[in-house]
Amino acid sequence: MKNIKSPVLQGLLSMSKKDKVRFHMPGHKGKFSELYKTIYKNLLSLDFTEINGTDDLYNSKEILKEGMDLLTKERMSKYSFYLTNGTTVGILASIMALTNNKDSILISKDCHKSVYSAIELNKLNPIILENIIYDSGLVLPIDEDIIINELKRNKNIKMVVFSRPNYYGLCSNIEKLAKYCSENEIILLVDEAHGSHLNYHSDLPVNALKSGAHISVNSFHKTLPALTQSSVINFNYNLSELNIKKVLNMIEKLQSSSPSYLLMASIDISRAYMESCGKEKLNNLKNYIKDFEKSIENLPWIKIPNLPDYVNKDFTRIILETKIPASNVQNYLEENNIYLEMISKNILVLITTTEDTKEDLEYLSKILKKFKPDTTTNNNTVKDTEDKNNSQQHFVALNKSAGRKLNENIIIYPPGSVYLKKGDIISEEIIKYIKELISSGIKVYTDFNKDINNLYVSID
Ligand SMILES: Cc1ncc(COP(=O)(O)O)c(C=O)c1O
Repeated sequence: MKNIKSPVLQGLLSMSKKDKVRFHMPGHKGKFSELYKTIYKNLLSLDFTEINGTDDLYNSKEILKEGMDLLTKERMSKYSFYLTNGTTVGILASIMALTNNKDSILISKDCHKSVYSAIELNKLNPIILENIIYDSGLVLPIDEDIIINELKRNKNIKMVVFSRPNYYGLCSNIEKLAKYCSENEIILLVDEAHGSHLNYHSDLPVNALKSGAHISVNSFHKTLPALTQSSVINFNYNLSELNIKKVLNMIEKLQSSSPSYLLMASIDISRAYMESCGKEKLNNLKNYIKDFEKSIENLPWIKIPNLPDYVNKDFTRIILETKIPASNVQNYLEENNIYLEMISKNILVLITTTEDTKEDLEYLSKILKKFKPDTTTNNNTVKDTEDKNNSQQHFVALNKSAGRKLNENIIIYPPGSVYLKKGDIISEEIIKYIKELISSGIKVYTDFNKDINNLYVSID
């Protein structure tokens, strides 16, 4: 086996040695917990297909049915179903199954790209509510009254979608909105990718199903100790059998026909693990975070951001506002083997889960206290490329793109939120803003090829 070249494996192995304290997903944090010993020891022998004895996800009667029955009970839903292609497929399937061509759909601007993809694929009419964004880059959720007012103004809206918690762990209340939607036959889909754990502590925001949403989708791999791509979709009691059937049929069309048994087992054991010790572990985590936040209270260059009254925060999501560019702090932390989930201009976002220890947070505090802030700005710049603004060209450089219509999305990644969508017209102001984002260390991508200097635009 000598001289084998496997760059993916070798790269991951070397990264796993470096990335010692992980404040990013997946929620298992790369720790070889008791939970995973059985899976890892038997990795290949557990990797099954549908044969007698292993059941069939799309016609479940045995072990998968039993696992999903337990999940349904635990999520307190009418029915919950395993997704092995992440929350992405749950969102795509829900929107595509429950809307028709040209239907109006109300979304918040900061929705995940999967929402924009479903809109594009089903040729929907999106009504987009802008989020408030602080100068620091912190994005607030939209207050439910604003959404209800829009629904009252526009009676054609068939569906409402937003992320809750958002990427920063922020939630607004949605009980009134859910009631309004139910009474007016509007489907409320909550992208709860970041909220799989909300049920497990009374100090966490109330989850979407309990608040009355019709459908929620959870990425187990983000905030629970599950393997990447493990998600679940939950249908509430107020959603009709027919609509549930439509969404499940669509999932079968969009998701792999060979759903991974390893991922399904990982969802099942994460559920069992949280039932057995989730509450206790989250309580411990809450105390570790409280101590951490207290320990950095006097650092003059960093603070916990203030939030408006209508916003509830998930305490497991650490958000820190920095007086200097967040990318400077991110670089420094990475030099000390601490990796974050994401940054905005002056905000650091750290995902913590049941798997983070007191020592992990103490190490973070120690390293932050040693930081000597300097205000040098980043060197990330967008190169001016020499192409002519030729309206017959499909690909143009950012600098030359003013006035052109996008044929793809411009995405801020992480987290994967859409800044400009296909069909939007690029302006000089937009170009300036994108350049500012890039120079402050934020990654701005286009679809697939990711090259912001090679934008795919329409020919007029
Ligand atoms: C808010 C939000 N929704 C949906 C998704 C997609 O989830 P998944 O990675 O499970 O497909 C993400 C992923 O980052 C997300 O942040």
